[in-house]
Amino acid sequence: MEGKTVNESSAIVSYVTLPQDANRTGNVHGGVIMKHIDSAAAVAATRHARCDCVTASIDKLDFFSPVYIGNFLTLKASINLVGRTSMEIGVRVEAEDLLTGETTNRATAYLTTKVGYTVAA
Ligand SMILES: CC(C)(COP(=O)(O)OP(=O)(O)OC[C@H]1O[C@@H](n2cnc3c(N)ncnc32)[C@H](O)[C@@H]1OP(=O)(O)O)[C@@H](O)C(=O)NCCC(=O)NCCS
Repeated sequence: MEGKTVNESSAIVSYVTLPQDANRTGNVHGGVIMKHIDSAAAVAATRHARCDCVTASIDKLDFFSPVYIGNFLTLKASINLVGRTSMEIGVRVEAEDLLTGETTNRATAYLTTKVGYTVAA
């Protein structure tokens, strides 16, 4: 298999947060952000391997500050490291306040994704 540059498999996924994404305190639920992290990582992994991939683990996930409803989320996923059948993928989560344009890094995650998929039992 031919090698690929990081840019060839990198994925940028954007999403406008809406009221249905809120937790009890009115900010964006961490689980919603995790779902988008998982999806962005899956795109980068699949682009790299060009076959189905599964998330083996979320090795680290740091939430630096809350994401507010209405913020425009941008997730940047790229391959950090490639193993025999697995990859480490880093995902940077940025949130933009659309009224002011202020954009900050709110979370960062590292996932291990394995090539192949598990058939339902
Ligand atoms: C992840 C999964 C495929 C691992 O299967 P497995 O047969 O135990 O994998 P192996 O022991 O053969 O390891 C294969 C590779 O995955 C890596 N790996 C497996 N489990 C891992 C884990 N928990 N964390 C980090 N890496 C892991 C191994 O280091 C190995 O890497 P390498 O080939 O680059 O050296 C399996 O546990 C599974 O299907 N889990 C469910 C996945 C899922 O449903 N995810 C959520 C939705 S996508």
